[in-house]
Amino acid sequence: MTTSAVLEGKDLARFYTVNRGLFKAEATVRALNGVSFSLHSGRTLAVVGESGCGKSTLARLVTMIEDPTAGELLIDGKPARVGDKDLRSQVQIVFQNPYGSLNPRQKVGSILEEPLKINTDDDARTRRRKAEAMMARVGLRPEHYDRYPHMFSGGQRQRIAIARALMLRPKVLVLDEPVSALDLSIQAQVLNLLMDLQKEMGLAYLFISHGLSVVRHIADDVMVMYLGRPVETGPAAEVFERPRHPYTAALLSATPIADPDREKNRIRLQGELPSPLNPPIGCHFNPRCWKAQDHCRKVEPELGGEGAHRYACHFPLD
Ligand SMILES: Nc1ncnc2c1ncn2[C@@H]1O[C@H](COP(=O)(O)OP(=O)(O)OP(=O)(O)O)[C@@H](O)[C@H]1O
Ligand SMILES: [Mg+2]
Repeated sequence: MTTSAVLEGKDLARFYTVNRGLFKAEATVRALNGVSFSLHSGRTLAVVGESGCGKSTLARLVTMIEDPTAGELLIDGKPARVGDKDLRSQVQIVFQNPYGSLNPRQKVGSILEEPLKINTDDDARTRRRKAEAMMARVGLRPEHYDRYPHMFSGGQRQRIAIARALMLRPKVLVLDEPVSALDLSIQAQVLNLLMDLQKEMGLAYLFISHGLSVVRHIADDVMVMYLGRPVETGPAAEVFERPRHPYTAALLSATPIADPDREKNRIRLQGELPSPLNPPIGCHFNPRCWKAQDHCRKVEPELGGEGAHRYACHFPLD
């Protein structure tokens, strides 16, 4: 790759100390443990995994809301820490819930102009011009400028949130399940908008998702996470075509698809997701894995494999 990464994570970890109640020792949650990736302009890295695997924790590190416990975050090649204002404006976030993330007492115009007010010297006229231009870009009409968030549908609200995130012209957008709360038909519209904006503005996306189906068309690369660790990473086409980690295969097989053959061969994950406070010894996935052997219950596998496609499994699928 000739261009340098706009966003790089090197062995990122984030641990939390939790109090388990009276007379119990404090415990450590390894919310994120050993996550490395690099993200380039105009590309999308999808981070996929079940609830509690550490997706939002990763988002908080990348947006510099929290610092990592260990490892390093680089934005545009520079080490990034909480409090670094210049780097922080390079990375913006869109959340899952477009209802909670917009102030109900603020009109759309003022929602969009607020980041400019805080971070730039733009005068009122310039701010308004920029807000109107961004509204047009995300498919909102001029008269929406004076409306309140509750007057919009979920999909339109997500357009407002996307517009707000882009006002400072960031290089990276973190999308934390940006379409999960929307109807299926609206999901496609918002995903298409995101892909258009990415092309026009050369944005890099870190796209967080529970499932693989949503990211199939938008991801260039995929990182599948389980209990705070990446279990499989690589070019999306390869991961979708030939998943090597059983967990990835199970996630893929959970993808709704109208194919009776696939339905027959569907992998159903057994057992509950273990507590991240007390992850299984060896491979964290072993209690739910149909391929697990003794070795898997003793030794935690490292990420390995050929080229860019890597997986942490002692007995990868063919
Ligand atoms: N501030 C915190 N203090 C203690 N534990 C935390 C904290 N934040 C996250 N955790 C724990 O870290 C783990 C990862 O949480 P995180 O929110 O990153 O998961 P997630 O993948 O975003 O899940 P979801 O899909 O439900 O949004 C969870 O076990 C969570 O309980
Ligand atoms: Mg989350």
